[in-house]
Formats: sequence, C-alpha cells, structure tokens
Amino acid sequence: MAKRKLKVGVIGVGAIAQEVHLPAWKELEAEGRVELAAVCDLLPENLNKAAKEYEAPKKYKSFKKMLNENNFDIIDVCTHNRCHCPAVVAALNAGAHTMVEKPMAMSAKESREMIKASKANKRKLMTGQHMRFETANEKLKELVERGDLGQIYYGQAQYLRRRGIPGWGKFHIKRESLGGALIDIGVHVLDLAFWLMGCPKPVAASGKTYRMFGDRDDLCNADWGTPYPPKEFDVEDYASAIIRFEKGITLHLEVSWAANIPDHVESLRILGDKAGISTNPLQISSYENDALTSKHFDWLPEKKGHREEIRHFTECVEKDLPVRVKPEESLQIQMILDAIYESSRKNKEIRIK
Ligand SMILES: NC(=O)c1ccc[n+]([C@@H]2O[C@H](COP(=O)([O-])OP(=O)(O)OC[C@H]3O[C@@H](n4cnc5c(N)ncnc54)[C@H](O)[C@@H]3O)[C@@H](O)[C@H]2O)c1
Repeated sequence: MAKRKLKVGVIGVGAIAQEVHLPAWKELEAEGRVELAAVCDLLPENLNKAAKEYEAPKKYKSFKKMLNENNFDIIDVCTHNRCHCPAVVAALNAGAHTMVEKPMAMSAKESREMIKASKANKRKLMTGQHMRFETANEKLKELVERGDLGQIYYGQAQYLRRRGIPGWGKFHIKRESLGGALIDIGVHVLDLAFWLMGCPKPVAASGKTYRMFGDRDDLCNADWGTPYPPKEFDVEDYASAIIRFEKGITLHLEVSWAANIPDHVESLRILGDKAGISTNPLQISSYENDALTSKHFDWLPEKKGHREEIRHFTECVEKDLPVRVKPEESLQIQMILDAIYESSRKNKEIRIK
C-alpha cells in the first residue's frame, strides 16, 4: 500500500517562508512524502504570491479558519515572533505536529504554554534552529559527543554585523519581535553554542543591550532592504552578555546589527580541557607529545541548514522519532533571553530558575 503523504500547512508566508521553507516543502512534495495543502498570511500580496508560486491549492487570511477547515499533519509557523505562540498553540490543539521559526516565542511564559499544548495533544514541537543542521556544526557536535574536547568550561559566540539591520518586516519593533539583534541573529549563535556545550542548565545571566544606530537616519544600512521609518525602531542593535551555567560553565555572547567594526564576524569558540574548537576557519586545537596542534577541516559536504531541518522534522513525524531541537531546550534559550533583557534594565545579574 502506498504511504500516505503528510498534509502540510504554512502560516506566515513572507521572506523566510518563500526563500527557504516553501522550496523545501515542495522538494519533499516532489519526493511524494508531503503535500503542501494550504498557506496562510494576513498580507494579500505575500499570500497570493506564495500560493501561486508554490501551487498551494488553498489560501487563507486567518489561521484559525485554515485549521478549522483542514486536517493537517504538519504546520510550519513562519510569522513575526508575536504570532508564534498563538499560531503554534492553535496548530497543536488542531492535532498538527508543529514547527516554528526562531525565536520560539516572545517570553519563557509563552514557551511553556507551547510545550504544554504539545504534551497535551501528544504532538511534536520544534523550533527552527537551522544552524544545528549545518554540516560543519554537525561535525563539531560529533567531536564534542565523542569526548574529544574533554571537560567543556567556556564558550564564546559572536555574530556581528557592521551594518545589517533588516529593513523589511517587523524586526525593528519590540512589540512584534521582542527585541532586535539579540533575537534576530543572537538566538542562532546562542542556541548553537548551548547545543555544542551539551545543553547545560543556565543559572544566571548578566547583559547589556544598546540602541546606538537603528533609530538614526544616517545609518548607511544600504544593502538591507527598504528602510523602516527610524522613529519606529525601538529595539537593540548591539548586545553583550555573560551566561553562567551549572558546573561553572560560562558563555560570552556578543551580537550586533550595526557597530563600528571593520567587517562582519561570525565566530564560535568552545574550550575544553583536552581540546578547543573554533569556527571560521573551522579547527580543533589541542596538545600532544610536547607539541601544540591544530587540525583544520579543508572540506566538508555542504548541507543547507533550513532545508535539512525541514527534512529532519518530516522524518521525525514519519517515523515517530524525537526532534533534534527539543522544546525544553528552546525554553532554556528563552529563559536566557528574558534574563539578559532584565539584567540590562536592572543593571545586575539575574538568576535563572
Ligand atoms: N532561521 C532564519 O534564518 C530566519 C531568517 C529570517 C527570519 N526568521 C524568522 O522567521 C519569521 C518571519 O520572518 P520573515 O523575515 O519571513 O518576516 P516577514 O515579515 O517577511 O514575514 C512574516 C509574515 O508573517 C505574516 N503574518 C504575521 N502575523 C500573521 C498572522 N497572525 N497570520 C498569518 N500571517 C501572519 C506577515 O503578514 C508576513 O507576511 C520570524 O520569526 C523570524 O525571526 C528566521
């Protein structure tokens, strides 16, 4: 008997959905594993373009109506952050396994609601932390899990743009997105470092966020889309934080959408007592026989993180496997983010319980 295709619906079909999610769903459709049954968006121009280009048979303005009128196996939520929690909870309550773009939610409280709905309905929930699915990062995880680093004690994660504030969407509006650089790009490297370090339990965070450029009209942000009105910008464009975990592990995080630096930086360093790993270039540094060594990776097969995360989630649903990005891990990330903002407001370290 032919295997039943999984019925997929996508809520929010703006930039990221059209760039990577919908092409990945269509690829799985071509393989006979899923059918893209419906798309939903509040904006008619995005809705009509996505439905036409990706041949979705049904299109909706309201996700509630879409969920009421169909039985989905999988819902993929790619809306602004403010809508993540309501759309995910509605999708889980409608019986669909649900993926949601990063960040998981607007607060740890919302993340808990989402996890509760996932458990109550016995449906899978996964945040789209696509960096966990990139080949180089999978290789690093393999080294860590094999014990090559020994005891891990420190990490440093940086994602710094000289100028790179998204001009589209609602990234610059706090009530829609929760925050700026920390939420848009910081969450990627924070989650990646946390995962590579073995998901240790966070105990405290101390951080500071800054809005130095985003609300100015002399920003020189030329390559980053149609500019938003500067007055609307009420999020941070730079953040730095120290996060403390159990067993004395610490992580230093630094993120910018705009900063006076010579170039873009995307780098990760994880230190263990046997070896340390660093990225860009990817290498593992250690010592043996009275010598210091660094092993380079000259070539790794290229896999696109977003595509792989969607394929992974589909396989987890098909075979009832556990998802790589556990919702409880995304909750810990959300608790760290909440603590960094609180720390910045109160100028003190915040305990994470
Ligand atoms: N993983 C990544 O690399 C990556 C990159 C960019 C964006 N993102 C995430 O993807 C999400 C969307 O970002 P984007 O760049 O596509 O933004 P976007 O503004 O281009 O698209 C968001 C879409 O959601 C729609 N929407 C909002 N509320 C809705 C609702 N209630 N019902 C239906 N549709 C609704 C909007 O109309 C819009 O079309 C964000 O959470 C963002 O953090 C992830």
